[in-house]
Amino acid sequence: MSSTEQRLQDLRNRKARSEAGGGQARVDAQHNRGKMTARERMEMLLDEGSFQEIDALVEHRCRDFNMDTNIIPGDGVVTGHGTINGREVFAFAQDFTVYGGSLGEMHGLKICKVLDMALKTGRPVIGMNDSGGARIQEGVASLGSYAEIFFRNVRASGVVPQISVIMGPCAGGAVYSPAITDFVIMVDQTAHMFITGPEVIKTVTNEVVSFEDLGGAMTHGSKSGVSHFTASDDEGAIMLARELTDLLPQNNLERPPDKKTSDPIDRMCDALDTIIPDVATKPYDVLDVISEILDDGAFLEVQADWAQNIVIGFGHLGSHTVGVVANQPKVLAGCLDIDASDKAARFVRFCDAFNIPIITLEDVPGFLPGTNQEWGGIIRHGAKLLYAFAEATVPKLTVILRKAYGGAYDVMSSKHIRGDYNVAWPTGELAVMGADGAVEIIHKRRIAHARNAEQERARLTEDFNEKFANPYKAAALGYLDDVIEPNETRRRLARALEMLLDKEELRPARKHGNIPL
Ligand code: HXC
Repeated sequence: MSSTEQRLQDLRNRKARSEAGGGQARVDAQHNRGKMTARERMEMLLDEGSFQEIDALVEHRCRDFNMDTNIIPGDGVVTGHGTINGREVFAFAQDFTVYGGSLGEMHGLKICKVLDMALKTGRPVIGMNDSGGARIQEGVASLGSYAEIFFRNVRASGVVPQISVIMGPCAGGAVYSPAITDFVIMVDQTAHMFITGPEVIKTVTNEVVSFEDLGGAMTHGSKSGVSHFTASDDEGAIMLARELTDLLPQNNLERPPDKKTSDPIDRMCDALDTIIPDVATKPYDVLDVISEILDDGAFLEVQADWAQNIVIGFGHLGSHTVGVVANQPKVLAGCLDIDASDKAARFVRFCDAFNIPIITLEDVPGFLPGTNQEWGGIIRHGAKLLYAFAEATVPKLTVILRKAYGGAYDVMSSKHIRGDYNVAWPTGELAVMGADGAVEIIHKRRIAHARNAEQERARLTEDFNEKFANPYKAAALGYLDDVIEPNETRRRLARALEMLLDKEELRPARKHGNIPL
């Protein structure tokens, strides 16, 4: 063999060692748990043949605990770039077969390199997490690398989309990188996220809890709001990451890509004419309204199982990506509470950061009453949503479907906080509060002194409803740009969106605002 051939062979051997990861037995164990390997995940995420690896030959520098006898090139994380439906992205996948995917100094710096390059080139980053956390043998060097990642996640926030896919353990401080990124996708049963595990919890608080109940996908998808999507397996999670990336711009200087549709923008939505029940207290499903309006009825709901009294998600209108925020009358009558406010506020800020117009569908009787809510800080949390809508400068389109009561009227992208196109259906009710409550307050004495209190109350309520339970007072004041027939909602919104696409709105220069976190 010539020396050139020898060198070539040496390179191939090194790459093969890197590709083999922790060896066949550990790969088999990974498969037996229903998990794909890091490389399989990377290949599935990216378009066929597009993956270009970086840092396959990086090695750890730890000399303690005999670590120098166990060096696996690549150091437990596969990193690089490739394309998703032709658009360039960066990605990394932790390799659980190498030291349990634990994050040591060099493993962490590989992720940092990807984040730096994504920021430099304005490309999204998708991280696939499957790790035992900080590599214990490397001590504080691991913690240092974690913090370097956190810093970069924060610096990239609002500049390039960041998506975390949790496909195994993600424990301790390791959770904070995904938590800072824009979207967390968890795989049911195999993904677990927690700050302190079941053992520590048992020792400290005496609570007995399983991995799954503590930090599984269902828990974070429905209880904590940490995760945005749940997938049933690795493939489903990866497909979701691809779908999400397709909707988004590559960075904050771009608009999201259009998605051509054959659904006519002037399609009439006749089903909407009868969707609001005759009885004001009767619920309906706002998801039916959303799918009627959007292109091809397609809606990617975000955090579908958490704070279900508000619905958020993405779709297209006239081929443009839009974010939708909608009160859900089916749950808690669509009231705003702490979780709903947090959920929608973060979504509105994401849309604003990445030039995604926001469509708000409003049917809200107000903020949820109760000591739980007050003591939990509904004032502070509700203020986030108000802040987020007021701060957003992307096109904002609001349709009042039914109730728009009290502070919630102001908060939900009203004209006063700079909604660009605000309309109501004829069923809209814009008032300080519902008729029943209002009559009790302003006519208290009158009802008390009436010969027939019940009759008087009913008469006054009807009177109040006639005066205020409609959209015409607001339309007369110019708070609404129009009152429209429900059947023309898609057409009118699509036209308004087209008109608003080039909208420019400036805010005073400042370091940053002080959102009430
Ligand atoms: C080094 C680790 C490791 C770690 C796992 N391994 N976690 N090596 N550092 N943190 C190694 C194991 O030694 C083992 O090596 C291999 O990975 C697979 O681990 P197993 O335990 O055999 O697998 P499993 O039974 O599936 O359990 C997985 C696990 C468990 C639940 C993740 O390994 C575990 O609890 N690890 C420790 C988790 C932890 O406490 N991490 C620190 C959290 S604090 P061999 O050679 O036997 O295959 C933290 C701070 C972050 O992360 C700070 C940021 C601010």
